[in-house]
Amino acid sequence: MIGFLSTTGAGEPSFWLPSQSSTIAQRVDSIWEFIFWLSVFFFALVVVLGARFALKYRAARGQGTVATTDHNTVLEVVWTVIPTLLVVVLFWIGFRTYIDMSTPPENAYEIQVTGQKWQWLFTYPNGYVDENLHAPVNTDVVLVMTSEDVIHSMFIPAFRTKQDVVPGRYSKLWFNATETGEFDIYCAEYCGTSHSDMGAKAIIHPEGEYEPWLKDASNLHGRFPPVEIGEKYYKRFGCKQCHSLDGGAGIGPTFKGLYGTMERLSGGGSVLVDENYIRESILNPQAKVTEGYSPVMPTYQGRFNDQDITAIIEFIKSVE
Ligand code: CUA
Repeated sequence: MIGFLSTTGAGEPSFWLPSQSSTIAQRVDSIWEFIFWLSVFFFALVVVLGARFALKYRAARGQGTVATTDHNTVLEVVWTVIPTLLVVVLFWIGFRTYIDMSTPPENAYEIQVTGQKWQWLFTYPNGYVDENLHAPVNTDVVLVMTSEDVIHSMFIPAFRTKQDVVPGRYSKLWFNATETGEFDIYCAEYCGTSHSDMGAKAIIHPEGEYEPWLKDASNLHGRFPPVEIGEKYYKRFGCKQCHSLDGGAGIGPTFKGLYGTMERLSGGGSVLVDENYIRESILNPQAKVTEGYSPVMPTYQGRFNDQDITAIIEFIKSVE
């Protein structure tokens, strides 16, 4: 069939839909296609019959309305029973798939997810935190997700899976990726100014390459000097979305030349930007907010250890 009329084989994106890269994708697409073609059929049926009847039964010039018959029981039963059966079938297939999608398999590999304005953070079993989702191929993976602030929604189109991420509770989403590579992750719940930037990548590693990656990635401090680690964190943990490096205006103060200055605080007073102030602003951002800015920064308590914070301070010092 022509490419855009149908989803193609696994892996290949179609005109309508992205690649089918998880075990559930094929099933979701089958239902989608079934509903799509059903809708096309009934749309055509209604339009064609409507047009045909309008022409056939139109009143001739000068002729009034002509009553024909009041109803036709057989016809009415038929056009009630057939759609009812179709809806029951759709419900049954959809419900079964929904149950399978929302029940994580036993012994799935667990990754913790935090949504916050405006980024995703993924915490791996060894405590390592990354801004992207890394997972092994052909493995059941369950994401245990919560939000720091408002409702977000984890959406991985290529895996055909989506789940709200709600503050104050945990929700789960699972998948089994059938292909290696990089896939887009979106936030699918409007969550404020930078909602549309709240993306990430799902990086699916080939067989046997995930564990070495995790081991390597976790050993950041052994591999890089603090300034470079600080820069990685700046890019990775969403700092750059609000704090510029070139003096440009942003949601938060620029880091350019920030270290060592006196900042005026909203609510009066001022503070010297030194190691202790930066540390406090990372762990408890609302404590001393610079004048002219809103108290919107999320806390990084529990995300960064002292070594990490030192690296970030070193990076901020280096931005002149
Ligand atoms: Cu988070 Cu939209």
